[in-house]
Amino acid sequence: MQVWKDYQQQHQDRFLNELLDLLRIPSISADSQYKGDVARCADAVKASLLQAGCTHAEICPTDGHPIVYGEIIIDPAKPTVLVYGHYDVQPADPLDLWHSGPFEPVIKDGKIFARGACDDKGQMFMHVKALEVMAKTNTLPCNVKLMIEGEEEVGSSNLGVFLENNKEKLKADIVLVSDTSMISMEHPSLETGLRGLAYMEVAITGPNRDLHSGVYGGAVANPINILCKMIASLHDENNHITIPAFYDKVENLSDVDRTALNNAPFDLNEYKNELGVADVWGEKGYTTLERTGTRPTLDVNGIWGGYTGEGAKTVLPSKAFAKISMRLVPHQSSDDIAAIFQQHFEGIAPASVQVKVTAHHGGEPVVTPTDSKAYQAASKAIQTTFGKDPIPTRGGGSIPIIALFERVLGLKTVLMGFGLDNDNIHSPNEKYDVANYFKGIETIPYFHKYFAE
Ligand code: BES
Ligand code: MN
Ligand code: MN
Repeated sequence: MQVWKDYQQQHQDRFLNELLDLLRIPSISADSQYKGDVARCADAVKASLLQAGCTHAEICPTDGHPIVYGEIIIDPAKPTVLVYGHYDVQPADPLDLWHSGPFEPVIKDGKIFARGACDDKGQMFMHVKALEVMAKTNTLPCNVKLMIEGEEEVGSSNLGVFLENNKEKLKADIVLVSDTSMISMEHPSLETGLRGLAYMEVAITGPNRDLHSGVYGGAVANPINILCKMIASLHDENNHITIPAFYDKVENLSDVDRTALNNAPFDLNEYKNELGVADVWGEKGYTTLERTGTRPTLDVNGIWGGYTGEGAKTVLPSKAFAKISMRLVPHQSSDDIAAIFQQHFEGIAPASVQVKVTAHHGGEPVVTPTDSKAYQAASKAIQTTFGKDPIPTRGGGSIPIIALFERVLGLKTVLMGFGLDNDNIHSPNEKYDVANYFKGIETIPYFHKYFAE
């Protein structure tokens, strides 16, 4: 629509600058030191919703960080789209690997570098600006509600309660989310699934104090040695996970689905080069796209213990720790997998050590329908602005709240993400291409238009 194009063109410098302002706020949800900044960011999001034309916007306090809610109801008889996004970001460390400050956004080679540029401030803010485009040109085709949370990166643990307590307020026909990636600007795609997550922490205790590794070494179990051995045993020589019953609920893809998945454009050499690895790694019998999109995994996220300071200290440590996460696929349950992990991990520990396993936040896997009106609307919107039909793909990441939208609110979700896999989300030098930001703002109104038709 020409009015949308004109409005966006006239205001694009401001659209960009407003995003940069939002990126300057270090809204790190995991670190309590930033609580004030997270709250300040929520206020800024609320102000932006009002500026965009929301007739109502509010800050909803939770037991953790606040949720920002806004809406424009043009006609209760028309369909309602509930937009979900998050304004919180991951911690920025290791800081020394950033080429510019994580909260001092810079634009270089057409890319915005900052923590949250892609995940998810940049993508969330496209919806705010797309709403502004529609509202200010009096062309809003449907009702829009926006729920922007501040705890996605720490597991959305207060959002479930919020959904339960606000079913009426959140009544809608579909949830629309931009917090995933697409293949490339040349090959637009829509993710049709997300993996679930079970996140564990383990502690191994050996002797009751750190010991001299000469005096006692060889006679007393070293918790770090033991932990490494236990972790190594969790995969077999085919990189299959060895926890009994781990794969019980996992379904194999049909040949048709497998072929379709592997038909997506993917260049293995480019993938390896871009990551600086000589070869890929993973479960035998599956391609890289299958490994990330359709197979469950187990990864150590962090491991520590003993002496890690300068020089050498001969010590047989008393304790060793690790954080271990498992990505889950449809039909696997986060709680069940956490329970069988715990049972197995406790079971494989030798008598010489004590083992303690605790579960952190988790989330359920989701598959989104492709035969729905909403998916068709997203597909047509992308066709309109990219000139190509999007390719359906399976994403490897997790957004735990999506499963709850269906369970608590009875709502399906469309994942219309505009990020790229190499946007360095959660890594140093996170970026978001200016072109993707503007393309998202251009595409979103068409989703509303086609969905409302
Ligand atoms: N936006 C990501 C998830 C994502 C990224 C999905 C790319 C698909 C493609 C989200 O913010 C995220 O990082 N989720 C966490 C889980 C959460 C419980 C911390 C994740 O996937 O590790
Ligand atoms: Mn995200
Ligand atoms: Mn994230």
